[in-house]
Amino acid sequence: MVKDAPIGVFDSGVGGLSVLDEIQRLLPHESLLYVADCGHIPYGEKTPEFIRERSHLIAGFFREQGAKAFVIACNTATVAAVAELRRDFPDWPLVGMEPAVKPAAAATRSGVVGVLATTGTLQSAKFAALLDRFASDVRVVTQPCPGLVELIETGDLDSPALRQLLQVYVEPLLEAGCDTIILGCTHYPFLKPLLAQMLPPSIILIDTGAAVARQLQRLLAEGDLLAEGNPQATQFWTSGDLQHLRNILPKLWKNAGIVQKFAL
Ligand code: DGL
Repeated sequence: MVKDAPIGVFDSGVGGLSVLDEIQRLLPHESLLYVADCGHIPYGEKTPEFIRERSHLIAGFFREQGAKAFVIACNTATVAAVAELRRDFPDWPLVGMEPAVKPAAAATRSGVVGVLATTGTLQSAKFAALLDRFASDVRVVTQPCPGLVELIETGDLDSPALRQLLQVYVEPLLEAGCDTIILGCTHYPFLKPLLAQMLPPSIILIDTGAAVARQLQRLLAEGDLLAEGNPQATQFWTSGDLQHLRNILPKLWKNAGIVQKFAL
């Protein structure tokens, strides 16, 4: 694999752009490919089998594009598909992501941690294992957030409807005494400005994007695969409506990019 080959990053939709941003910030020489599987959103309400099938297909697409590494910028796809992808692509640097339980357990002072994530992530065996491993000394209050991803996908980051829904999801965490809240879905970091208005300033919000970028950097360095030249323009594909992604991309992504149809 050549050092200047691109890195493939994917999510069920635009949420993974919050991770792509961290990757580009840490690794500015890397060329990036991004697939938003918007035609099949939300993954959070789909079966693990369906998500595995989509993840596999997208991984195959990145292989065809010559990607040197693969990032699953989606918690829900990671819990459903990362084990199988690692098995099927053993020679490929692959980074998945999961809710940041360990850092949250270390950060909490009240001893109560909240997790906002999709139903799929919270119901998974992988998430249960994560709690067993890192959260034995704290109380964890989980909150699935159906509907939130769909609103963010429309480009809505602060409408009254979004505020109302978010309030419904955050309220039980505050009532339970959480002082630390894990944003366990890559869509949610886009709501940080709104959450900052809604939550007491003492609440700590934790997401995993920066840690994913650091893990990617480690894996690339280990394989002597870090790019050294100038990156290509970032390329985006969507399995949903092309014009819609073109319209909302400037709101969620700082740089220009090429947007194409993902027809698989
Ligand atoms: N962004 C995804 C995650 O991190 C899931 C969104 C969805 O439900 O499609 O979990």
